[in-house]
Amino acid sequence: MGLDLDAERRAQLWRQVESLVEGYAAGVAELPASPRLDAGEIRARLSAFRFDAPVEAGEALEFAARQLTEFQVHTSHPLYYGLFNPKPTAMGVFADALVAGFNPQMAAWSHSPFACEVEEHLVRAFGERFGYEAESTDGTFCSGGAEANHTALLAALTSEFPYFGERGVRGLAAQPVFYVSAEAHHSFHKAARLCGIGGGALRAVPVDDGLRMRADALAAMIEEDRRAGLAPFLIVATQGTTNAGVCDPIPEVAEVARAERVWLHVDAAWGGAAVLAPSVRHVAEGIAGADSITFDAHKWMSVPMGAGLYLTRHRSILSRTFSTPTAYMPKEAAGLEVTDPHLHSMQWSRRFIGLKVFLSLAVAGWSGYEETVEHMVRMGARLKEELGRSRWRVVNETPLPVACFVDEDGGDAQEIVNRVLASGRAWCSTTVLRGTERVMRACVTNYATCEEDVVALVEALNAARG
Ligand SMILES: Cc1ncc(COP(=O)(O)O)c(C=O)c1O
Repeated sequence: MGLDLDAERRAQLWRQVESLVEGYAAGVAELPASPRLDAGEIRARLSAFRFDAPVEAGEALEFAARQLTEFQVHTSHPLYYGLFNPKPTAMGVFADALVAGFNPQMAAWSHSPFACEVEEHLVRAFGERFGYEAESTDGTFCSGGAEANHTALLAALTSEFPYFGERGVRGLAAQPVFYVSAEAHHSFHKAARLCGIGGGALRAVPVDDGLRMRADALAAMIEEDRRAGLAPFLIVATQGTTNAGVCDPIPEVAEVARAERVWLHVDAAWGGAAVLAPSVRHVAEGIAGADSITFDAHKWMSVPMGAGLYLTRHRSILSRTFSTPTAYMPKEAAGLEVTDPHLHSMQWSRRFIGLKVFLSLAVAGWSGYEETVEHMVRMGARLKEELGRSRWRVVNETPLPVACFVDEDGGDAQEIVNRVLASGRAWCSTTVLRGTERVMRACVTNYATCEEDVVALVEALNAARG
């Protein structure tokens, strides 16, 4: 039939998978960090698969691994200075294989009690790291930060307008509006559309010279919007912006949220890991007061994609936002004090996302993560020093390991980065700060990146300067 393979063949294929994965991990540093962008070549190779005749299993695996080797940015490369995408932890890779093999269905608690309890255990453990009280912490695993931020909007809407779930936007007396910094992640623009409140509901609050949200401007915008008859329902502070790793002043933003009685969400998708390391923990000051938090374990905690977390200190809000009971879902857990994930989150059928976090954390411990985050922070500081030595001016201010920089000799940021990528020696990118200034961006994203790799990036940039 082709769907199953006999035990002996499976054993051989497991060995093949092991050798492909381990061979990739051992040799990735020798590969060009970024791929040839040749869609024609990829499509030509895929055109051999017409699915009218079965392909031998070992050949199919070999094919997939070869193309992945040739056609992807290698986030496991030690000179990958990218957009928060990890070299995956070994335990995370094993966990994903276990999850695929056991295939727990987490829509209903009774189908996968262990998996559901692992995720709840992790929600409480992470809530505690962010300073939440155990009794009031709730949350859910998500595909990533975008889904967590979307959840944040829906939950805040439901909290402010209790009939939102039933009546939708048409049931609201006033247009809801929410506030993010001009440097916030664009998943909020998308979430505004998905919630039906429209992209115009997003208010981009100006930032100060350090790219942090200005609390005074935030307060003034809210006042003006209220005068115009709009309904502010949410403020989002970012802890670790995507562009520049900058952290909004949470205590000042929280003060405005308190005064205005508006829900406060902190998008700590990447920068939330700062709470794990004493040298940078101060950037998270005030986060325990947030009504909800986005955190992505598939960023700085280096578990394989995708593992987002939405956390809240309001125990009933997720159920109020998502509960839609049906007759056909399993009822074996009725009467038990447990949570059915499909009544408590956006997804229905769901994969066991939490296992890769659980096993990575169980084996490394908080102390292992503390050491890793501290190492990466040191590498970030070293990178900024090394850039300065070669006349690259760092233009962002953050203790977190993201450097945004320009060429003091006036070289064009995009051209320089294009040359670095074409050389295959490293991966970094460009972005725009303050709406106009194109800069180069390098983030220490890979936990295996060491001082030599930092020096090698700066050498690659120097060579690309021409
Ligand atoms: C601050 C921030 N929030 C949200 C996201 C979206 O997360 P994801 O890509 O996991 O959906 C990102 C992605 O880089 C991010 O940097």
